[in-house]
Amino acid sequence: MTQCIEKVLFSEEEIAEKVKEIGAQISKDYAGKNPLIISVLRGSFVFMADLVRAITVPCEVDFLSVSSYGSGTVSSGEVKIVKDFENSVADRHVIVVEDILDSGRTLSYLMNTLRTRGVASLSLCTFLDKPDRRVVPVEVDYCGFQVPDEFIVGYGLDYDQRFRNLPFVGILKPEVYGG
Ligand code: IMP
Ligand code: MG
Repeated sequence: MTQCIEKVLFSEEEIAEKVKEIGAQISKDYAGKNPLIISVLRGSFVFMADLVRAITVPCEVDFLSVSSYGSGTVSSGEVKIVKDFENSVADRHVIVVEDILDSGRTLSYLMNTLRTRGVASLSLCTFLDKPDRRVVPVEVDYCGFQVPDEFIVGYGLDYDQRFRNLPFVGILKPEVYGG
């Protein structure tokens, strides 16, 4: 697996440090609010698992699944909620957790959908942000790292469902996806 990686961007240790920082900030901002933390599957599952353990105030978790990518490396622009969450979000302080913000299509759609469901507040926590690729503007409240316009894998992020289990984040060699 590691031979498919061109460059490691963030090591396991750097990621752990950053996740701790974000967890501490969220704990401060959401004290007494019992936030509902919603993970966008599948890419954010690793980040989500580490993040909630870095949050020291009571919170609840839920999961939803959207599809935007198929198996390629370019967003189709089409967003579908494949698995909706179990809890009602009405009057809840909701934090959406995503792996990477790319064109912004997925999150823009998702945040707008959640806003119509009567949330008390809504914020976005993305592990990675690829600002050069933004097509639709999205407001970010918590962000781990900014990344260059390359295809990124590891720590939950996949290429064609592979590489999610890498404990670090790296740039995928273009020859792996025929780039
Ligand atoms: P957007 O709708 O274009 O912002 O796409 C967001 C989704 O595309 C993310 O949740 C990821 O699943 C996927 N994605 C975007 N860029 C990358 C990448 O560099 N590596 C892996 N997945 C990516
Ligand atoms: Mg994804």
